[in-house]
Amino acid sequence: MGKLDGKIGLITGGSDGIGFATAQHFLNEGAAHVFIIGRRQDALNEAIKKLGNKKVTAIQSDTSNLNDLDKLFDTIKNKQGHLDPNHSVYAATKAALRSFARTWTVDLKERKIRVNTLSPGPIDTPGLRKATNNEEQRKQMYASLASGTVMGHVGTADEIAKAAVFLPMSKITATGSRRKEAGKPPDPAGKQRK
Ligand SMILES: NC(=O)c1ccc[n+]([C@@H]2O[C@H](COP(=O)([O-])OP(=O)(O)OC[C@H]3O[C@@H](n4cnc5c(N)ncnc54)[C@H](OP(=O)(O)O)[C@@H]3O)[C@@H](O)[C@H]2O)c1
Repeated sequence: MGKLDGKIGLITGGSDGIGFATAQHFLNEGAAHVFIIGRRQDALNEAIKKLGNKKVTAIQSDTSNLNDLDKLFDTIKNKQGHLDPNHSVYAATKAALRSFARTWTVDLKERKIRVNTLSPGPIDTPGLRKATNNEEQRKQMYASLASGTVMGHVGTADEIAKAAVFLPMSKITATGSRRKEAGKPPDPAGKQRK
């Protein structure tokens, strides 16, 4: 039995990096259907090919475009009726997103929708690699990022995807939590951030 049997997921940015790895793990854990979105159709096509699973729908959609979002949710409603949400609009800044999540925890609890945020440290993805111009620069940046983390390494998309699988599991009732994942620096003096 998979950890996400029967769940329906939407993975924003699911064509690459952390989002793509998360889509793979959702399917491996028995999700009933996974929608992935991104702006580049060729990247979505490639992702569908790599996932090789009939339970995935790729939708070209830009999270910063409200018309795209309306169309996206219409498509999800027509195809699957509902979502078991874990991710939400990614266009907000990370701080604003965490703030939204705290409020949604309360707003959505009557509808039995849980809201949690994942906060990755530096993760080796195409997106992070694009921040440098060549291999030498990439090595320097990774060494510098790794030196600021507890475990002394840049994390993998897989590590984050495993945490993303944990949160929608039916047995878990966590809501309003912020999980700090792979590669995060320690809090000063061991203080927990809220
Ligand atoms: N990698 C890290 O070290 C790290 C650490 C902390 C947080 N994060 C956050 O984690 C998220 C994923 O990062 P990543 O490193 O996996 O990035 P990535 O490898 O560049 O992948 C980004 C994915 O998001 C899609 N995307 C980008 N803008 C979009 C938009 N407006 N609408 C819909 N889809 C969009 C991209 O496809 P298209 O380009 O085709 O749209 C792609 O599928 C980002 O929000 C990033 O800030 C990353």
